[in-house]
Amino acid sequence: MGIERLVDTKSRANDSAEEVFEQSLRPTDFENYIGQERLKNNLKLAISAVKKRNDGGTLDHVLLYGPPGLGKTTMAGVIAHELGANLKITSGPAIERAGDLASILTNLADGDVLFIDEIHRLRRAVEELLYSAMEDYKLDIVVGKGPAAHSMRIDLSKFTVIGATTRTGALAGPLRDRFGIIHRLEYYKNNEIKQIITRTAGILKTEITDDAAEMLSTRSRLTPRIANRLVKRVRDFADVNGDGIIDEKTTKSALELLEIDELGLDPADRNMLRLMEENYPGRPIGLSTIAALTGDEASTIEDYYEPYLLQIGFIERTPRGRMVTARGKKHLGLNS
Ligand code: ADE
Repeated sequence: MGIERLVDTKSRANDSAEEVFEQSLRPTDFENYIGQERLKNNLKLAISAVKKRNDGGTLDHVLLYGPPGLGKTTMAGVIAHELGANLKITSGPAIERAGDLASILTNLADGDVLFIDEIHRLRRAVEELLYSAMEDYKLDIVVGKGPAAHSMRIDLSKFTVIGATTRTGALAGPLRDRFGIIHRLEYYKNNEIKQIITRTAGILKTEITDDAAEMLSTRSRLTPRIANRLVKRVRDFADVNGDGIIDEKTTKSALELLEIDELGLDPADRNMLRLMEENYPGRPIGLSTIAALTGDEASTIEDYYEPYLLQIGFIERTPRGRMVTARGKKHLGLNS
């Protein structure tokens, strides 16, 4: 769909080069995972308790929610590593039939961690099968068809599900109830993003000045995935147009070229805000209308554009729709 946005928080897991890049930057333990302190403290405690008891018990199922790009998959990897467990990764849309889930679950060993990304997109039949699996490690399946059909209960290994979703609201109550640990990932603080940027530059063996790291941190939408992509793009720019060092001047020029402004907004964000204000000045607009104006899917607006614009107070949600705030208008130079 359309042009690729650099500041897009979508994981490009089907782009293998991008995936390898992200993978190479992922911290594997709590020590190297920057930010999300509250979540880390809670998880550290829960994991220590499991290890101390050492009675074959497993970590409670964990549900991580929050805007994309904040490190849910990374955190799942860290949890598995800290538990000394195997990690299997799948996603809601990838599990098409109940049989697919049955095959995944029956192949798990005791203590394994199963990460289900976009868990709100599980199909109903699959989701229902997951309930009893998570609750008492049993799988209720129907074998055969017609009059010969009968149900069977299969014992499963004791595993931990880590579910990730951008919206808890979209998760059915009974599924949510099966998670013992439910946590929201927060936007990062500027100084945390700056540390992530410095760390990433180090892994890429690229020199970065403190001013440049500072400048990039304010344009990364408080999101590690974007911070890492920006470092990569600015490094390309520094290699081609400079001496390979990421300094403030190079960073500024690269960001101008990328049309990313001081707050990390790109042309698509600015275009959306402008269209909203020009077509419905001072009035709330429904999500589907915004989607029609920009030509995006409503879910793309809701999951990818909106969370950051809400976070920085550029739009607000009212019962009757979304509105651009005075602050948003001021940033764009629109009259209020
Ligand atoms: N890369 C992506 N997310 C990260 C984080 N939270 N800490 C360190 N490196 C990261």
